[in-house]
This record gives sequence, structure tokens and C-alpha cells, in this order.
Amino acid sequence: MKTYNLALIPGDGIGVDVTDAAIEVLGAAAKDRFAFKTTTFPWSCEYYLEHGSMMPDDGVETLRGFDAIYLGAVGWPETVPDSVSLHGLLLPIRKAFNQYANIRPHRLLAGVEGPLKTEGFDILCIRENTEGEYSGAGGRVHQGKDNEVAVETSVFTRAGVERILRFGFEQARARRGLLTSVTKSNAQKYSMVFWDEVTRELAAEYPDVTVSHMHIDAMAAKMVMAPQDLDVVVASNLFGDILTDLGAAIQGGLGFAASANINPDRSAPSMFEPVHGSAPDIAGKNIANPIAAIWSVAQMLEHLGEADAAAAVLGAIETATGKGIGIRPGLNTTQEITAAVIAALEA
Ligand code: IPM
Ligand code: MN
Repeated sequence: MKTYNLALIPGDGIGVDVTDAAIEVLGAAAKDRFAFKTTTFPWSCEYYLEHGSMMPDDGVETLRGFDAIYLGAVGWPETVPDSVSLHGLLLPIRKAFNQYANIRPHRLLAGVEGPLKTEGFDILCIRENTEGEYSGAGGRVHQGKDNEVAVETSVFTRAGVERILRFGFEQARARRGLLTSVTKSNAQKYSMVFWDEVTRELAAEYPDVTVSHMHIDAMAAKMVMAPQDLDVVVASNLFGDILTDLGAAIQGGLGFAASANINPDRSAPSMFEPVHGSAPDIAGKNIANPIAAIWSVAQMLEHLGEADAAAAVLGAIETATGKGIGIRPGLNTTQEITAAVIAALEA
């Protein structure tokens, strides 16, 4: 039996609540399929207040040896500015480990009613996760003065754009064969025109995939008006970030939005984390919805090659939600939802 070495970073707020839930479910999914060992790292805003950094200097190197990383949530803006906490933990890990494909599935789970009048939809959003608008290139001069200047430069490399699009094409090929590439090339005439060009070049290699190009503004409307027409959606870091919150909203809320930060060439560990943040207002109250976190476990299992276990976890989530468990905020506690998923797994 294989044993996986997993690094856990519960992080802040409800990150801790949902990581506990996720790992409980992982334990039930493992059964006689695989074994796993967890090492928990206390890296968080609390850690920052004590140590002056979100993780130790060798934090990234410490994580490198693990088979996968599971992260709950990062952020506690009351004590540490988000710009500090996120640039000290989450974002450096994504970049250092070349987790360039951020995969976020958006569909209605059994029993869950989203806010839209729709028969259903099944979107796989693929967000570029290491460069683009979030490259971190920029600076400020004359800080605090009248002549202050702030510059933040988007960085789009051919290697970076090509690999995320290629990843999208492969996913589309394995699904319903539709790929929508999202840009804003009518207004941003360098980076986004470049992205469109690379999309067209690659399209020639994937004649079995139907490609469409959409601008981000029109895409936002489409995800509300006709999400059923979408299959795989590929977007830059910023656009993908925004669209996946919209995706979360149409699938019933952030409590259902799973996410995987994938290093497709497997040269370093991938990281799995729900889309939602640390939600300080409900932290520790046993009311956070763990479904996004548990779904992210299914993504982790899929990535590790445990397809059966991944399918079992996803099936168990839908058995629970199909019975009405956890389908609306306030309906069930974190523990009740977790227990229902585990019961379904063990049934
Ligand atoms: C997400 C989050 C992060 C991101 C923030 C917290 C930096 O919003 O994972 O979508 O934008 O990547
Ligand atoms: Mn986001």
C-alpha cells in the first residue's frame, strides 16, 4: 500500500476548522486503499505575530519533499495586512513550486440550489497561477508625497501563457471539447493580444477542441446568463481570480468552491485549498461549510493517482448534499456535514 506524506497548513480562521474536517474525511477515504502521514505546520498570521514572518526562511524548502500540501486558509487582516500574509505564504508557495494551473470546478452539487434559474452547468475554470497581473513586479516611489507613483506590471511570458493554455486544451479534450479563452484584448493591446495569438497557435494542434475567445466583461455576464454553454474556461491570474468567485457564487457560495494549485510536470508538490478565505467572523464556531475543503481533498486524491478514492469522496459529498445536508448556510454544523460525508463513504 502506498503511503503519502502530506504537509498540512491549516492557516487562519476557518482554515483550521475545515482542514480538520478534510483530513477526517481523508482518513475515511484511505481505508484499505492507501496510507498517509501528515505533518502540520503552524504557519499563519498568529505565527507571524510571534516570529515576524509567515513561515521560516526555509519554509518552501521544507515543503518540497512532501507528496502534496493541503492548505486551509490564510489571512487575519485585523492583525496582519492581507498584502503581507498572502505574499508571505500562499503566493510564494504557488510560485516556488510552479503550481501554474489553478483548477476550480463550478457546478451544482446534488441538492444544492444556486441563485440562478438554470438546469445546471459544469464549468472547469483554469486560472494561470504564477504570473500575469499577480507577478509581483512593480514598485512605489516618493511614497506618501504628492508626486507618489505606484507601478504594478503584468508579466506574460510565452512559456507561461503557452503552458496554461496547453493544460486547458488537454482538459477540454478529456471533457466536452470546448475551450473558452478569456482576455480583454480589445483594451489591453499587448499582453492580451499576445494571449489570443498563442491560443490560436495552439488551437491548430487541437483540432478536436472547439475554441472560443471571450472578453472578461462579456464572460462575467455569460456565467450568469448561460453558464450551461461553458466547459473549460482558461484565464489569466486576475481574470481567473475574479471569475472563480463568480463561479463560486453561481454554484451556491464559497462553501462549495474547491481549488487545486497544480504543478502539472510534478517537479514539486501541488497544493490543495478551498477558494474561501479564513472568515474571521465565523472562525472556531463549528459552522463553516467544509464541503469546498473536502472537495479539494478529492482533487488531491485525483492528482496523487487515487482516482477511486477521489470518486468515492465526491460521491459521498453528493450523497450528503442530496439528502439536504449542508446545502444552505446555517443548516448544519461543520461536524454534522463532515460526519454525513464520512457516513456516506463508509456505507
Ligand atoms: C484566491 C484568493 C487569493 C488569490 C488571494 C487571497 C491572494 O483570492 O485563491 O482566489 O487571489 O490568489
Ligand atoms: Mn480569489
